[in-house]
Amino acid sequence: MSSTHNNGRAVFNTKFGAIATTVGSAVGLGNIWRFPYEAGVHGGGAFMICYLLFVLLIGVPLLCAEFCMGRGTRSNIFGAYKKLGDGSISHIAGPLGIIASLLILSFYSVVAGWTVEYCLSSLTGGLDFSNREVGHGQFLNLTTGWRPLLWTVVFLIANFTILISGVTKGIERASNILMPLLFLLLVAFCVNSFFLPGFEEGMKFLFTPDFSKITSGVLLGAMGQAFFSLSLGLGCMMTYASYFSSKNKLGKTAATTALLDSAVAILAGVIIFPAVFSFDLSPEAGPTLVFEVLPYIFNQLPGGMIWSTLFFLLLFLASLTSTVSMSEISITYFCEEKKMKRKGATILSSAIALVGGLLCALSFGALSDFTIFGMTIFNLFDYLSSNICLPIGGFICSLFVGWWVDKKFIKDQLTDYGKYKFPLLGLFRFCVRWLCPVAIFIIFLNSIGIV
Ligand code: PFF
Repeated sequence: MSSTHNNGRAVFNTKFGAIATTVGSAVGLGNIWRFPYEAGVHGGGAFMICYLLFVLLIGVPLLCAEFCMGRGTRSNIFGAYKKLGDGSISHIAGPLGIIASLLILSFYSVVAGWTVEYCLSSLTGGLDFSNREVGHGQFLNLTTGWRPLLWTVVFLIANFTILISGVTKGIERASNILMPLLFLLLVAFCVNSFFLPGFEEGMKFLFTPDFSKITSGVLLGAMGQAFFSLSLGLGCMMTYASYFSSKNKLGKTAATTALLDSAVAILAGVIIFPAVFSFDLSPEAGPTLVFEVLPYIFNQLPGGMIWSTLFFLLLFLASLTSTVSMSEISITYFCEEKKMKRKGATILSSAIALVGGLLCALSFGALSDFTIFGMTIFNLFDYLSSNICLPIGGFICSLFVGWWVDKKFIKDQLTDYGKYKFPLLGLFRFCVRWLCPVAIFIIFLNSIGIV
């Protein structure tokens, strides 16, 4: 973050910096790990089309809504609702966002820990996925026992160090270079997919929607994925927008974020599914899918070990830029509302995430038989946050911005007090007033079997 201050708060210096950091939050494991496994479980093409529609019709308007609230109030999620509302809404939306962010941070750190393990194993030449049994056994080896606990802790320490030492600037700079590199790497792997025997089948699976497969579960999963991937519904984008300068065009930033984020998810799908069908794997493997499939791809590439090391290193960094953003939600809340020092606030949220993270890591080992509502702790944290908390947070935000907040305030934010045009203002209002809340509500009713 820059040294320029606005009412005592940091502001991103450049427009590019603001966009890069926002994209840095959005692009992460959600695109490369979560999207393919959700698409695999939910029938491929049917999921894909619902996901893209949700990004466009709910994601982009809600990004604009969170941006307006954040930049207009220069506050954390609780403070933003309090400043613009009557306080009572902030007591619901604030804690909901903070709980969601800590749940996500917990299971996300486990998966990010796997990337560290895979990166190091590739580097030392220890990753062998020459056949299905060896590959699967190796995955189990790497993700059960004490090692995932260690890597979860290591990842959380890295996250903590960045948050506490204010090296955000460093990671921002690094990610400005490394994220385009990750993008290029993904494009290269896509080209490689083209030559795999399962390319056609994989593409068909991903891009041919079988509308009969659209069930309430698919709709809820796709909506949850759109929220998760865009870091929406929990005040993350609100908090980041509180650091935007007045020069940032909010609509453009929202559209760019959604576009790049979806592009990365689609690239990940184009890489994973042809490989799934080429190596006779199941697309329905769930959270372990990407980690079981990718090494097969690296194995058949010349210099696979180098590709693999580089890829998992970049994925690790992409995860860090996302966890830094989700940690910021609770840290700014503890600092601004509970008057804690930044160090204390960072220790507190990291400690909560550590306990949650260790429980999630154990879900693949000692606690694998411990289930709640038929889900392991890991799956429960993921489901609860993505499919329940984030859409509820988005529902509250859209109603709040659509019906409660002064129209002029929103217009001023979107046009920088009339300095530039925002031609889609009418459409934006319609989306936040009607489309988003009604769609979210119906999908919820549908998923509990009412509609
Ligand atoms: N959007 C991130 C990803 O796709 O990996 C995950 C995420 C970041 C979720 C920040 C929520 C959040 F507040």
